Amino acid sequence: MDNALLSINDQEVEFPVTEGTENEVGFDIRKLRGSTGTITIDPGFANTGSCKSGITFINGEEGILRYRGYAIEDLAEHSSFLDVAYLLIYGELPTRDELDAFHVEITRHSLLHEDMKKFFEGYPATAPPMSVLSTIVSSLSAYYPSGDSDEEINLNVVRLLAKLNTIAAFSYKKSIGQPYIYPRNDLSYAADFMHMMFAVPSENYELDELLVKTLDMLLILHADHEQNCSTSTVRMVGSSGADLFSAISAGISALSGPLHGGANTAVIDMLEMIRQDGSNFQKYVEKAKDKNDPFRLMGFGHRVYKNFDPRARVIKKIADEVLGQLGIDDPLLDLAKQLERIALEDEYFVARGLYPNVDFYSGILYRAMGIPTNMFTVMFALGRLPGWIAQWLEMKNDPDTRIYRPRQIYTGHNAREYVQIGRRAN
Ligand SMILES: CC(C)(COP(=O)(O)OP(=O)(O)OC[C@H]1O[C@@H](n2cnc3c(N)ncnc32)[C@H](O)[C@@H]1OP(=O)(O)O)[C@@H](O)C(=O)NCCC(=O)NCCS
Repeated sequence: MDNALLSINDQEVEFPVTEGTENEVGFDIRKLRGSTGTITIDPGFANTGSCKSGITFINGEEGILRYRGYAIEDLAEHSSFLDVAYLLIYGELPTRDELDAFHVEITRHSLLHEDMKKFFEGYPATAPPMSVLSTIVSSLSAYYPSGDSDEEINLNVVRLLAKLNTIAAFSYKKSIGQPYIYPRNDLSYAADFMHMMFAVPSENYELDELLVKTLDMLLILHADHEQNCSTSTVRMVGSSGADLFSAISAGISALSGPLHGGANTAVIDMLEMIRQDGSNFQKYVEKAKDKNDPFRLMGFGHRVYKNFDPRARVIKKIADEVLGQLGIDDPLLDLAKQLERIALEDEYFVARGLYPNVDFYSGILYRAMGIPTNMFTVMFALGRLPGWIAQWLEMKNDPDTRIYRPRQIYTGHNAREYVQIGRRAN
């Protein structure tokens, strides 16, 4: 493709083309302001590439998602979560020996400093688990100072991966008043999480292999999603030179919003509300279409996927299988399917490319595992961690990285004379 020519009044400026390995095209406007004094405006950054990245490829029109070139469907079916975490962070799938060594490394760091348990005790039982997660991750900087060598950085990467599992489970135990269950080195990442969540010291806890495998797969499906809101937050905070823990803590906060990771909780709340309202889903489809009504169908729509969300396809299939095998008859799953059917046939949703996204079915699966609704977004954060780390490392090592500092178009008052307090109108 040719370079872009922009003509502003009498001036013509040329912007070089940047092409990606999947032929996506961007125009490099780095010289725009310097040569013309103007900027672009793009609220929500839907047309703005903030970086070049070799981690995740998405084609929203065709419903393609790949991590480091591997199809999400293959990874979900054949890999483990740690396999995928290694792939995202170090760039290649590990050999068997590398994966074993990685698992050992992770297990060596899964304990929390005993003093950190006091942090959990300071929270009310009603504290939202995402705010607990974010503040405890942020406080890791106080225990594990950031060094600049590759070894020191890698050590903190491993610590964070290992400890987030424990922090997430501890935050749940705190919220229900049960004793913390310490991690076990003989278990896989997902199995260890289930054990720390659901075991109690007074009896034996039997892990259910089907649920462990399902959780592992859910974590894989969430592991990265290129420059979404929380990942961009991680990169933005990191671009100032802030350490890994601070950047990831900010990412967790960004993820907590209902338009992002909080949507999986919002989906269950919405389905529950519809059920209590006599399962009249048509009424809610109409509400979602009404521009004067703020109601939206949670779990529908995506900034990037305008055809289908490949993760939602995998999850929907697994949800049917898992619930069938467990013999769970969840009325919310039936409701979700009915709602999906109606919405997919409706002109409003079809015209806008609004399809069920990853959050639409994941909540149903978490419910089947016994994970409470207020922990759903924490599960998303656990899954997303390797992606955030990989993106933070890529940002840090990219010579093109500058501190994130967008511009604005100012729409406030022009200069005016200062008014002393005694002369201001009441
Ligand atoms: C995901 C989401 C934030 C994407 O937002 P976006 O890319 O900014 O898209 P917009 O909000 O501009 O939506 C485009 C159009 O579809 C409509 N729309 C988008 N999502 C909708 C939904 N869930 N229900 C009803 N209408 C929706 C908008 O009203 C808008 O209609 P218009 O063109 O007539 O004004 C948005 O689809 C949403 O709020 N979904 C529900 C929350 C959710 O599931 N989030 C999880 C994301 S993984």
